[in-house]
Amino acid sequence: MAELLSIILAAGEGTRMKSALPKVLHPVGGLPVVSHVLRTVQGFGSKVAVVVGPGHEAVEAAVTRFDAGAQISKQIDRLGTAHAVQQARGAYEKAAGHVLVLYADTPLVTSATIGQIVGKLDEGADMVVVGFRPENPTGYGRLITEGGRVRAIREHKDASDDERLIGLCNSGIIGFRGDTLRGVVDRIGNQNAKGEYYLTDAVELAAGDGKRIDFIEADAAELVGVDNREKLAEAEATFQQFKRKEIMAAGVTLRDPQSVWFSWDTEIGRDVTIFPNVVFGPGVKIADNAEIRAFCDIEDAVIGEGASIGPFARIRGGAELGPDVHLGNFVEVKKSRIGAGTKAGHLSYLGDAEIGAKTNIGAGTITCNYDGVNKDKTIIGDNVFIGSNASLVAPVTIGDGAYTASGSVITEDVPADALALGRARQENKSGYAPKLKERALVKKAAKGN
Ligand code: UD1
Repeated sequence: MAELLSIILAAGEGTRMKSALPKVLHPVGGLPVVSHVLRTVQGFGSKVAVVVGPGHEAVEAAVTRFDAGAQISKQIDRLGTAHAVQQARGAYEKAAGHVLVLYADTPLVTSATIGQIVGKLDEGADMVVVGFRPENPTGYGRLITEGGRVRAIREHKDASDDERLIGLCNSGIIGFRGDTLRGVVDRIGNQNAKGEYYLTDAVELAAGDGKRIDFIEADAAELVGVDNREKLAEAEATFQQFKRKEIMAAGVTLRDPQSVWFSWDTEIGRDVTIFPNVVFGPGVKIADNAEIRAFCDIEDAVIGEGASIGPFARIRGGAELGPDVHLGNFVEVKKSRIGAGTKAGHLSYLGDAEIGAKTNIGAGTITCNYDGVNKDKTIIGDNVFIGSNASLVAPVTIGDGAYTASGSVITEDVPADALALGRARQENKSGYAPKLKERALVKKAAKGN
């Protein structure tokens, strides 16, 4: 395979998003739109050049965070897609192999589509245009084809009535042999309805040079361009469809696929079962045979083999749950490590904790990890029994095999195998209840009600 350079156009203003955030930084599946494109081309070992608009420092930062080697160019005046590509001249002039042009706001283009472009270029095409058939082609450039090749792309505003009847549209993704791009890009003019330098004019110029311009057709769903909130929601829905299929194909049971929401990087092992209404934020890895019951919200967490989570659990902030851990309803775990076989069945908050293996965390246990200023750690050993309704005031350590009595406020370390009582002792006063009741009745009568 020839060397690959991907030029990603990201200079659009995105005004239709009506957002303080640049449009290509809005997340789809928890990952900024532009990073999806970067990730896909990275899969081909491609070099990357990104063209950003003025004031797009946040886009630059997001790009370099994802791909430290990416070259960033600025397009100060937005004079059209060909002009945008020219801003990456430093990159494409040196490109030894193929050059792909993609839009940063089209996150769902698949590796299969990129693979087809590269395949055709490798096989001798000089350019490859990715076409698609949108439900409503108004506004898109139309592919004018002849004998299986593309002769021109006509922008909607410049198209004749007959040309507007063509359903096959330009997605904007175009592959070039490097020399083909270099041979045409500076000859593109701006004599058209918008007065812009259209990259699409490269087709007619290259065809005039006798070049072979192929096209492929991709599914409209993967070519959705995120330029308003409705399209963002559409992209999210499509992303989720793709991801659900991928996850199920890897051996995961989704009881109700439509109600489970994944992140771009969710990794789930075989024979995991996920019940309805579960949301995964970024950074989740789940090992084989785990079970995630309904209504859980999980992000930045590693969940061990055979663990059983939920219903209604929230796990986040770098949680690491060992094998066979059980967390039940209304349990929140943040930035905590929980050892194999440990159970927290009901109504708990476990934050900044290190909990050993085979420990039982009683209902209503709270790690009091925050004093309003600092966060402190709670360390609990193996085979510990934390009685229900405990407040474990951090920093505190509870040794292996220890017991804490129900309702305790534990403020001091508990040695291994000790029983800690951190509550007022109970006193029974025999026969006292009827007297108490009598007193209450007298009080009521005195009030006259
Ligand atoms: C473009 C194509 C059209 C295609 C459509 C698909 C051209 C001339 N037309 O039209 O054939 O059907 O996309 O969506 O290429 N951009 C810059 N700098 C610029 C102009 C654009 O970076 O000066 C970027 C935008 O951020 C965007 C992309 O290029 O990501 C497309 O630009 P846009 O102006 O939206 O092109 P369309 O008119 O939609």
